[in-house]
Amino acid sequence: MEKKVAIVGTGISGLLACKYVLEIGLHPIVYEADGEIGGVWKQTIQSTKLQTNKESYQFSDFPWDSSIKEDCPSNQQVLHYVKSYAQHFSIIPYIKFNSKVIDIDYVGSQSNEDIKSWELWGGNGSPFSTKGTWNLTVQDTKNFTTEVQKADFVILCIGRYSGVPNIPEFSLKKGPQVFKGKVIHSMDYSALDNENAAELIKNKRVTIVGSGKSALDIAAECANVNGVTHPCTIIPRTIHWFIPDFKIGGINLGFLYYNRFAELSLHKPGESFLLSLLATLLSPLRMGISKLVETYLRWKLPPKKYGLIPNHSFLQDTTACRTGVLPDFFFDKVKNGSIVIKKSQSFRFYKDGLIINGESKPHETDLVILATGYKGDEKLRSIFKSSIFQNYINGSLNSANSIPLYRQIIHPRIPQLAIIGYDESLSTVLTNELRCQWLAHLLNENIELPSVREMEKDIKMWEDNMKQNTKNFNKRSCIVTCGIWYNDQLCKDMKCNHLRKKNTFAELFEPYGPTDYNGLLHKCL
Ligand SMILES: Cc1cc2nc3c(=O)[nH]c(=O)nc-3n(C[C@H](O)[C@H](O)[C@H](O)COP(=O)(O)OP(=O)(O)OC[C@H]3O[C@@H](n4cnc5c(N)ncnc54)[C@H](O)[C@@H]3O)c2cc1C
Ligand SMILES: NC(=O)c1ccc[n+]([C@@H]2O[C@H](COP(=O)([O-])OP(=O)(O)OC[C@H]3O[C@@H](n4cnc5c(N)ncnc54)[C@H](OP(=O)(O)O)[C@@H]3O)[C@@H](O)[C@H]2O)c1
Repeated sequence: MEKKVAIVGTGISGLLACKYVLEIGLHPIVYEADGEIGGVWKQTIQSTKLQTNKESYQFSDFPWDSSIKEDCPSNQQVLHYVKSYAQHFSIIPYIKFNSKVIDIDYVGSQSNEDIKSWELWGGNGSPFSTKGTWNLTVQDTKNFTTEVQKADFVILCIGRYSGVPNIPEFSLKKGPQVFKGKVIHSMDYSALDNENAAELIKNKRVTIVGSGKSALDIAAECANVNGVTHPCTIIPRTIHWFIPDFKIGGINLGFLYYNRFAELSLHKPGESFLLSLLATLLSPLRMGISKLVETYLRWKLPPKKYGLIPNHSFLQDTTACRTGVLPDFFFDKVKNGSIVIKKSQSFRFYKDGLIINGESKPHETDLVILATGYKGDEKLRSIFKSSIFQNYINGSLNSANSIPLYRQIIHPRIPQLAIIGYDESLSTVLTNELRCQWLAHLLNENIELPSVREMEKDIKMWEDNMKQNTKNFNKRSCIVTCGIWYNDQLCKDMKCNHLRKKNTFAELFEPYGPTDYNGLLHKCL
């Protein structure tokens, strides 16, 4: 009997998973809580566009339409592109819309103790087992009825940046309840249509908490709507290095960080003695490039004038996936006073606004937007019914944002299940497509997994490397600077040549992109 594969989510990860599961001859059921595909691209603020250029954010076998001239297409263009992909590969008929997976439960003939003692993934090292299946409780989001569906294998693609907002905690009487204005999360702001979003902020004193991409984008929108009459205030906890576009002085970031030469100067998990020596010898070059970029940004953006020089290096920000692209004319808005920046480690609410740490005068405001990110880990954890599996999802980087996954795909102690789309990278499409190709090989039993202990050792090695490279500055799961090295591991597992360029020069200096990894499922070049 054909194995039943369930996929949860139809953002980029879920669509990719479906495409590759179909390619190995299985017929998955894809559950989507919403009535539409596209994930995060369905609901963004008006100004959101790709931060990466379109060549890096594309499916390996589905180029952008030639009518798209922009380097960084708008949110609507990305959504259209994603929908065209789903149509082109006939993915839509496999999707059950308005079907929210409330929880998943592993049921089988083996006790928890048996499961804990497994030496191989799932007991037999195989993606499927006759001894256990997953029960998915699926809710029809239109009439709120639920039913239980069975699956032999589950692929969770529920996204990291949606669903569960990260809301700062306050001690008694210092939180939003004492404030007479309005407090929302950036997620709620993104959910508004453009007209209602503009109406909400119009003629209001808006304060935005956070210094990530959402915070800066929303601040720019507020400044566009209210100008200098009602300046928008940003309260960053940490200042990050933001860049004007995907290029540094005209050089594509890929040439600095996403080619093999750039990776030679970084220590990589499991590297040989020779590579380690080379990384040590080349580390001054790595620091030099980071300093050059910082000098360029100081010159180009004058962040110092506004107290916006980070306390850490550009390299640390990129290695930790914390850098982003500035909204258009951001510093002009700071200069003309329509955006005001008040750096603070903490703040609290009072009746008319916020008391910002270190400021003698209370900050009066009408609307506070918490652009404080998401709890993607919590969303993932809570989908498991078993508290044992929930605990497995807790990361070991002492962070809310790291999940211990082998190859960033499977948990060594959670059988018959894969997670796609949790870890960040320079191009999430490229990485998630490669992961889905790897997963298809695994489901086809073409990949031999090491033992549970070896997988755990490998995960720890990658985590230690991440800590070493970011100097503990950040703890969120991210593979940017070792991205090609990571892709190499997946290629080797699939028994594909990991060297994918035409010649040695290109291999060393050309940035890697999605099209380099086209067709790894059926033909390995
Ligand atoms: C505003 C924004 C802009 C971004 N811009 C870039 C960029 O420029 N470049 C880049 O590389 N990355 C960017 N990212 C990162 C982005 O998250 C990824 O690029 C990618 O789109 C994520 O896709 P995903 O499928 O993993 O998750 P999502 O897009 O979040 O999709 C998850 C899907 O799962 C569904 N779902 C969730 N829970 C359930 C459930 N229990 N049952 C059923 N369905 C469920 C959701 O409805 C959703 O459709 C951006 C993220 C955001 C939030
Ligand atoms: N393509 C686009 O245009 C676009 C647009 C929006 C978002 N995105 C992407 O979506 C993802 C999420 O971005 P995001 O900006 O929503 O979230 P984020 O990157 O997680 O940033 C959250 C911000 O909130 C701050 N914060 C968290 N808790 C806080 C607290 N208790 N007090 C004060 N500040 C707190 C963080 O501070 P610290 O820095 O100190 O941790 C950080 O600055 C990112 O990958 C981003 O690149 C892309």
